[in-house]
Amino acid sequence: MTDEDRNEMVVTPWEVKGKVDYDRLIREFGTQPLTEELLKRIAKHTDGLQLQLARQVFFSHRDLDTVLDLYEKGTRFVLYTGRGPSGPVHLGHLVPWIFTRQLQDKFKTRLYFQMTDDEKFLVDDENQLADMTRFGYDNALDLIALGFKPEDTFIIYDTKDIDLLYDIALEVAKRITYSTARATFGFQDSTNLGWIFWPAVQAVPCFIHKKLTGENVPALIPAAIDQDPYWRVTRDIAQKLGYYKPAQIHGRLLPGLGGSGKMSASEPETSIFTTDTPEAVKRKIWNAFTGGKPTLAEQKKSGGDPDVCTIFQYFFYLFEEDDKKMTERARQCKSGEVMCGDCKKDLAERVNRFLADHQKKREKARDTVEKFHIKR
Ligand code: TRP
Repeated sequence: MTDEDRNEMVVTPWEVKGKVDYDRLIREFGTQPLTEELLKRIAKHTDGLQLQLARQVFFSHRDLDTVLDLYEKGTRFVLYTGRGPSGPVHLGHLVPWIFTRQLQDKFKTRLYFQMTDDEKFLVDDENQLADMTRFGYDNALDLIALGFKPEDTFIIYDTKDIDLLYDIALEVAKRITYSTARATFGFQDSTNLGWIFWPAVQAVPCFIHKKLTGENVPALIPAAIDQDPYWRVTRDIAQKLGYYKPAQIHGRLLPGLGGSGKMSASEPETSIFTTDTPEAVKRKIWNAFTGGKPTLAEQKKSGGDPDVCTIFQYFFYLFEEDDKKMTERARQCKSGEVMCGDCKKDLAERVNRFLADHQKKREKARDTVEKFHIKR
């Protein structure tokens, strides 16, 4: 295998590998870039642009303009996002959830949140259903810790709530052929039958609001771009079923500390989990991939490369909100004034401060988690 093969980009809902080229994804997936004009329109409603939009952490969309047209004429929308609970939550998962929380706050909309224990059971031979279900309840604590409110946040636990989802899943599944599903998801002869049906289940929360309230409104889905194939098939059939096409706003994937792909629970040393101890956080950050030079002397002389540095990305995505400080950090890195150890120490402190607070809120969430379970 050459280096190039190893680095080859793969982005599917179940696998992200190599260096992700986001412009290429916009082209290949056929999504729209978030233009300046659209950003301005959003900013009007959110009084100022959120950091994640200003920094293009969310960078692409489908039909966001249509949703805003409707909204400006008085038709609300609902938000929908979710989580495949195959392990503990890490910082990468929090990126779209924090963004969703801010959108919800500004637009005063309901959120449907899907915990796909069924999906995670089906797509990996090793995964046991009971474990995935248990992770679902555990992961909900992280969501709630971010400040969501039970009045307008409805968590769907797939295996528990399947009675609520099943009729809509059938309507969806009946209208998607195997050949479309195979082309969209890359199914093989060896793919199990449950997995082949499963995308119909992820489509359901796009439409469930009407069943619960009688109100037909579009869903806007903030999610990392690897989920896009699901929405492609869902959008094709939405109008046939009498619903709006679901709209999306696509985010980038927070890279693992190892430097490529996305942060992934299957590589625990390159992922920071929300339940990690301060020592574990320090150790993982200490071992992270950076843009540093092999020796201190070399780095002092010719500087580092913030563009490839994972530490830098963590500041950018989550831990340094001040643009001026971001620019200054990059300058000091390139000029050889700060060394990787300095940045790592700063980041570990920030992450541990954040986690100390998050972990408290996460424990508190145990008292309220039931209130978030979807109300019928
Ligand atoms: N398939 C997603 C995952 O594996 C979970 C999910 C379900 C989701 N519905 C969603 C993610 C809607 C984003 C938006 O993580």
